[in-house]
Amino acid sequence: MQRIPEEKIDEIRSQADIVDVVGSYVQLKKQGRNYTGLCPFHGEKTPSFSVSPEKQIFHCFGCGKGGNVFSFLMQIDGLSFVESVKKVADMAHIPLDVEISSGDGSASVRPDSQEGKMIEIHQLTSKLYHYLLMETEEGQEALQYLLDRGMSEQELDLFEIGFAPAHASTVTTFLQKREVDLPLAVECGLLTERDDGNIVDRFRNRIMFPIKNDRGQLVGFSGRLFNQEDGPKYLNSPETPIFNKRNILYHFSDARQEIRKKEEILLLEGYMDVISSVLANFNNGVASMGTSLTEEHVQMIRRVTNRAIICYDGDRAGIEASFKAGTLLAEQHRLEVFVLQLPNGKDPDDFIRSEGVEKFAEVYAHQRLTWTAFKLQFLRRNRNLQNETEKIAYLGEALAEIGKLDQAVERELYLKQLGSEFELSMDALKQQLQQTVASTSRAKPRDYGGPPPEEYGDYPVFDGGGGPVYEEFSFQPPSQAPSAGLTSEKRLLKYMVEDRDAFIQIRNMMQEQEIDFYHDNYKALYTHLIGFYASGNDANPLVLMDQLPDDMSRNLVSELEMMILNTDVSTEEYQDYVFSLKKASIERDIKEKEQQLQIASQQGEMTLALELARTITTMRANLKNNT
Ligand code: CTP
Ligand code: MN
Repeated sequence: MQRIPEEKIDEIRSQADIVDVVGSYVQLKKQGRNYTGLCPFHGEKTPSFSVSPEKQIFHCFGCGKGGNVFSFLMQIDGLSFVESVKKVADMAHIPLDVEISSGDGSASVRPDSQEGKMIEIHQLTSKLYHYLLMETEEGQEALQYLLDRGMSEQELDLFEIGFAPAHASTVTTFLQKREVDLPLAVECGLLTERDDGNIVDRFRNRIMFPIKNDRGQLVGFSGRLFNQEDGPKYLNSPETPIFNKRNILYHFSDARQEIRKKEEILLLEGYMDVISSVLANFNNGVASMGTSLTEEHVQMIRRVTNRAIICYDGDRAGIEASFKAGTLLAEQHRLEVFVLQLPNGKDPDDFIRSEGVEKFAEVYAHQRLTWTAFKLQFLRRNRNLQNETEKIAYLGEALAEIGKLDQAVERELYLKQLGSEFELSMDALKQQLQQTVASTSRAKPRDYGGPPPEEYGDYPVFDGGGGPVYEEFSFQPPSQAPSAGLTSEKRLLKYMVEDRDAFIQIRNMMQEQEIDFYHDNYKALYTHLIGFYASGNDANPLVLMDQLPDDMSRNLVSELEMMILNTDVSTEEYQDYVFSLKKASIERDIKEKEQQLQIASQQGEMTLALELARTITTMRANLKNNT
């Protein structure tokens, strides 16, 4: 595994903002000093996931997961530590020269797993395709085709576009030389086995688009014809254990940050549209793999944003597809939807290349139709509005649509449009609208995915009888009922994590009292902390998190860090907490002895029972003295 110097990690950590990084995966809302949102690690309806910009950590009070910016990416994208550092560096535009190869043990998916190997085969093959396109005689015609379409070499590099030669065994031979397991490459859909048992390349004489999953891992290809007629225009990888079109959106992992920044996603129809929109500085564009939008896609989108801009081809098929996607997003999932319609049946790629980048930006910003406006327009297609019957039918449908709107202002706006177009009075329209609304059930109130706004109001601050106070959350971490001494363990450990001197003082006190932490995860963290300080580190929860070997301890650090405690503490206070640990420990011992006593007297072992009773009395006395 490659080592990144400590100072470099610190630099990256200090320049990146965890709110930006987490925010590109989770919709966050400012709430007091923290940001909250729905936890991406477990299903929940009300937010218990919290991000602290001050501390640069996240913690979920629902499932207990927590950590810093690196551990967030490791968990959500399945990255190794080195990969996560690299990713944060990229996001923060800090140059970092580490080569991440899947063979060095730092790969996101363990390289010896089936999936890891499949991804590795895709990476190898993609490099080959790209090389063949850019550097070889064979790729010349395909390259020329792409350049003629207005793509630059830079774009081709950025999207790692490649070329699969017509020859039947280019990839096969290449993979064989690299000692790749050929049957596995067949399973990836990169090679096929012929009836005679020979293995050959599956993609031939095509321009190759590598396809990444939502974690940015290369999991498939789509190959486009460019100089011949036979075969489908695009040939995709078949379904494999790592490639399923239902949950892949082209460019999603790269678009994520920009989607979050713009607070909207741009939905496009084709790869070329995505590439051109990036050229036009719209980095928030994604495309499905030639299928309509699925439920899985919507879930992916919803995690990042509530607003979708649909910009499909301007032809008939594109308009129908916009209607379908918009219905799913706006009506079934209550996202805010806009539709961009490009003139003359153009697709975004044609439009950007012919009309220019500025023109597209202008259309994007100013000519988007609201979902209702689009629908009103859509409902008139195939209708002859000169005909009275059709006109009335259309008005009925239009009014039903308008009736679904929550806002009076919005309703008024569309009614006015209808009124002026069909020369109808507002009174008549309003009256008709009322009847329509009365006869159709009212639309459900909008659910933006998160909790209703009032839940974001002031949380009553939890104070479980002197227990820890978590700002903004009215509940306690859902562990078992807090056992005696837990609060003291929490506080002590928090002070120890945050302050080296506190660590030394408290440790001495605990040794004097011959007392240890009782709860396993506290004990484990304490042990790690001893090692952490012993190797010369200063107190730093973020660095500590990087060094902890297990999630349990990391989760505990983030939980402790989310606690708000008075930082100005005296030695006496530490002493008090240590005593209460001691007390809790004695109480547990007493309980145990009492149980033994009960058993002893039931079994008639009177000597033992007497002895136990005496011990218990002494312990009780001890307990009094200690408090
Ligand atoms: N598609 C597909 N199979 C086909 C045709 C299309 O999978 N036979 C998918 C591809 O994802 C493609 C998208 O549908 O990107 C849109 O198709 P189309 O508009 O025909 O392609 P473009 O992306 O516009 O490509 P080009 O501009 O090169 O024609
Ligand atoms: Mn096109």
